[in-house]
Amino acid sequence: MFDVDDQLMAVAKIFPEGLKNNVADELSSLEYLLQHNPGKINIAPPLAVASTRLFNDKKGEYVPAGVVMYEAAQGTSLAEHIRNVGKARTTLERQATFAILKASIEETAGLLANLHGYGTKMRSSEVYLEPFFEKVTLRSQKVVRHQPIYAAVGVNVSNLEMRVKELVDQSRREAHYSRNASPVHGDAHPGNFFYDPESQQVTVIDVITLSASLDENGEPCGAPERDLAQFLHMLRRDGARAGMRDDEVLECSHDFINSYTKKSTRFSRATVAILGVCSAVSSLLRMTKSSGEQQFFGSLKQQLFILEEMFRLADPWKERELQGLPIEE
Ligand SMILES: Nc1ncnc2c1ncn2[C@@H]1O[C@H](COP(=O)(O)OP(=O)(O)OP(=O)(O)O)[C@@H](O)[C@H]1O
Ligand SMILES: [Mg+2]
Repeated sequence: MFDVDDQLMAVAKIFPEGLKNNVADELSSLEYLLQHNPGKINIAPPLAVASTRLFNDKKGEYVPAGVVMYEAAQGTSLAEHIRNVGKARTTLERQATFAILKASIEETAGLLANLHGYGTKMRSSEVYLEPFFEKVTLRSQKVVRHQPIYAAVGVNVSNLEMRVKELVDQSRREAHYSRNASPVHGDAHPGNFFYDPESQQVTVIDVITLSASLDENGEPCGAPERDLAQFLHMLRRDGARAGMRDDEVLECSHDFINSYTKKSTRFSRATVAILGVCSAVSSLLRMTKSSGEQQFFGSLKQQLFILEEMFRLADPWKERELQGLPIEE
């Protein structure tokens, strides 16, 4: 990070060896956004690209790495805005930080709808989705193998594989007939969007994965549901971790969905749900591995509830159905 008088001017991101193709992915994603962007999506433009060397502990030697320098995104990441709500000490502070978070979420939903609007709407996103179907299937098998751990918090996951299979089948059928292939961010968690309350604008960063939603001719082939699902899951997970109340997270999820659907309605709820489940089981498995941590069982149970909520995204999005189960401490 490079700052002058405490103001962040630029950010240098190092792409370590092994990830070096990601520099090309990141730059082609940025190029796509710069070329196709009719001023609707703010990015942090790249300022310079360089190569450097990084010490690799495993190899015990310096190895080549890539560096990209970007303009600083204005404002603060939505992940930080979420934490600010949790950290608020007074009612007034809570209201103020919550209002900023809500505005940031509405702007982000609008940005994603604009991005997804670039799609040609002529093809299905089924090819893009297949690897996610594979991932969620494998991950759910792993989760079931850990059943004895979840039994300790009173949750039975033995029917998870079957439920995942049903939802994958439904999503695959819907994707086959859908014509909503779009460019998608691909890693749309709240840490990758910055919101500046002053200008009320959102800036998107970390776009490496966008290139995976473009085919060899640069035509969009991604599933917009990927961004919706990931954002909703990470908002839920990070919100709970930051100490936001259930009703606050729920209100934010509604704002997100409502703002998005004002601009775009072409998506499958089953696909949002199965991709949300994919993201939730990934968090669950990571949590299961780190079982030495304090409050392990509490957060494990919470993540199991969040997984259930992701399944419910397949149902009609009415207030009642989106309502989460109470999170128990
Ligand atoms: N242009 C930018 N302006 C301001 N901050 C930035 C910018 N780019 C990156 N950052 C900061 O650096 C952090 C990491 O950057 P980035 O998201 O690109 O990397 P990452 O390792 O891929 O992150 P993750 O995998 O968690 O999404 C961001 O969360 C943000 O706080
Ligand atoms: Mg990031």
